[in-house]
Amino acid sequence: MDQSGVLSPGWTIGGLDRSDARPLSQQMQARIRDAIVKGVLVPGERLPSSRALASQLGVARGTVESVYSQLVGEGFLVRWGAAGTRVNPQLQAVDLGHLQREKVPAEQASQRATGSGLAEGVRPLSIGVPALDIFPRKLWSRLMAREARHLASGDMAYPDERGALELREQLASYLAVARGILCRPDQILITAGFLGAMGLMLRSLLQPGDPVWIEDPGYFRVGQALDLVGAKPVPVPVDEDGLCVEAAIDRCPEARMAIITPANQAPLGASLSLARRLELLDWSRQTGAWIIEDDYDSEFRYAGKPLAALKSLDRDERVFYVGTFSKVLFPRLRLGYLVVPEPWVERLRWTARLTAPASGLVEQRSVATFMAEGHFGRHIRRMRQAYAHRRSALIEALQRHTAEELNVQVPEGGMQIVGWLKSPIDESALGACLREQDLGAESLRRWVRGNPRSQALLLGFVTVPVEETEAVAQRLAVALKRARAVS
Ligand SMILES: Cc1ncc(COP(=O)(O)O)c(C=O)c1O
Repeated sequence: MDQSGVLSPGWTIGGLDRSDARPLSQQMQARIRDAIVKGVLVPGERLPSSRALASQLGVARGTVESVYSQLVGEGFLVRWGAAGTRVNPQLQAVDLGHLQREKVPAEQASQRATGSGLAEGVRPLSIGVPALDIFPRKLWSRLMAREARHLASGDMAYPDERGALELREQLASYLAVARGILCRPDQILITAGFLGAMGLMLRSLLQPGDPVWIEDPGYFRVGQALDLVGAKPVPVPVDEDGLCVEAAIDRCPEARMAIITPANQAPLGASLSLARRLELLDWSRQTGAWIIEDDYDSEFRYAGKPLAALKSLDRDERVFYVGTFSKVLFPRLRLGYLVVPEPWVERLRWTARLTAPASGLVEQRSVATFMAEGHFGRHIRRMRQAYAHRRSALIEALQRHTAEELNVQVPEGGMQIVGWLKSPIDESALGACLREQDLGAESLRRWVRGNPRSQALLLGFVTVPVEETEAVAQRLAVALKRARAVS
């Protein structure tokens, strides 16, 4: 707004919605607050006089006056007599980001609905999200409805914090057959995904300052969660045999815990060799450290059977095993499970009871039925087939369109491939060009903590149906070319 009180071209409060159930004054307050929070109205800027704004909006002057008064009371505005009503200049020094009601975290800001049939927040080449287009949604809603209908009043009391027994029983059988893990349903806790399980373990097992081995590159949330509880992440390099156990022992033999992805190292895709598995178990036996096995997507292997879990070799009750339904069903379900070694069951159960008891009975029972009736196995087989096709299609299309820019590395399993850049490109230019092409490919950079790596893109192939692959690879080539041109 300029000094005469006319709305500046950058901001207008116009278009109050008279069909909106909220009173006009509330809508106006929200608009002005929002404009300040988003930086459209800057500290010190003058607002129109109440008379001018009232006539512009066709509302009573008193309405504008009361809106201004309210915002003065909240500290967003100040009244300066003849100098008019202004945005509080003291807001200059304050970060208002957290007040943005619709604020999207930076990492999601680039993830928008695509209009191409993909779920909101998922774009072609996005990583970490399964192919939601082949999820059996009708079947799932039928199961959910059935479970909701069958809720007895006894089901509505306080539950067992470990989660629904039906689901824990299904999981115990599934883990024995599919992952070689022998455990009782009593040892299983249903959690809010892998991260929910992490929360329980970090709270139960670690003290502030405890060193913890993490893979580098590795799942960035793990390092962030350790930072949050004041533990000390120790980044350990990975190679084609997975975590370099020898390097880890050299670097920090006294670590209290190792958090790893043995089946399919996230994000580079190695599986931990048997020699390393034994070395790791040996170290934990000798030092009393814990191993957290993050088995997030081992169901997807395109040659041979899924490898047995590290937990299946654990004779000393040192390995906590975590599985998730985020990749085999869908992430917003927020369901995962933790297999706790016998000596620690009570401790973990207590933490769960006090801080994160399992929730969502209907969802848990629906998953149990999904498993019991054989849909789970069928869905995994179907995904595996579809993913194998999507993977081959993308590899071929990348060869046609991006061979000049990328060396493609194809892991034997998982949901993504790695495109190593043949020569560096400015990261932020690359990010911007990928967004411009509406692609969800992600830079390896965020997954790297301490040990430098060449530049690479993580390319989620499962989010690209075969018929869209060609166009997606072309868009990727355009993004790379444009980013290079401005680098
Ligand atoms: C390495 C790794 N572990 C686990 C998960 C899943 O976590 P959650 O079960 O919390 O969705 C992901 C998801 O991207 C992952 O990349």
